[in-house]
Amino acid sequence: MLSKELEQALVTQLNREYHSAYIYIGMSVYCSKEGYNGCSNWFLIQYQEEISHGMKLFRYLEEQDANIELPSIEGVEVEFDSLIDVFEKSLAHEQYMTKSLNELSDMALKSKDHATYNLLQWYVTEQVEEEATVKEIIDNIKLIGDNGYGLYSMDKELSTRTFVDATS
Ligand SMILES: [Fe+2]
Ligand SMILES: [Fe+2]
Repeated sequence: MLSKELEQALVTQLNREYHSAYIYIGMSVYCSKEGYNGCSNWFLIQYQEEISHGMKLFRYLEEQDANIELPSIEGVEVEFDSLIDVFEKSLAHEQYMTKSLNELSDMALKSKDHATYNLLQWYVTEQVEEEATVKEIIDNIKLIGDNGYGLYSMDKELSTRTFVDATS
């Protein structure tokens, strides 16, 4: 059974996963408005993945008979300075999520809740991959600079990303 403290923290994390999804819709809106349809697709896949992170957590909370509260989801930005600005803000957000998940893992260990700790390790591992992917995109954008063909190729590559469901 979940401790009250951990239950509350996991419900907060659930809200953060859905908020992440919403953030990525905002980023997708900006990219499509600027004509980066591949990047827009990439962020829409991010959105879907964050929803599935939320669903994975939601299922666990249900299994644990948690008291699930669903507070409102904070509004997000749809305006950014540039393409690199969007990805840099995306990285900063993922780093924030990593910190949040590390703190949750600490909390699970402290209360000797190994089932929850085990679930959280899936998220911690996922964060390593997410941060690495965004860092790589940022490096590529820096390398490309304002080379039109480079940007076109990168955008085309990001248009091929497909959704991987965290719950299956
Ligand atoms: Fe997530
Ligand atoms: Fe994420």
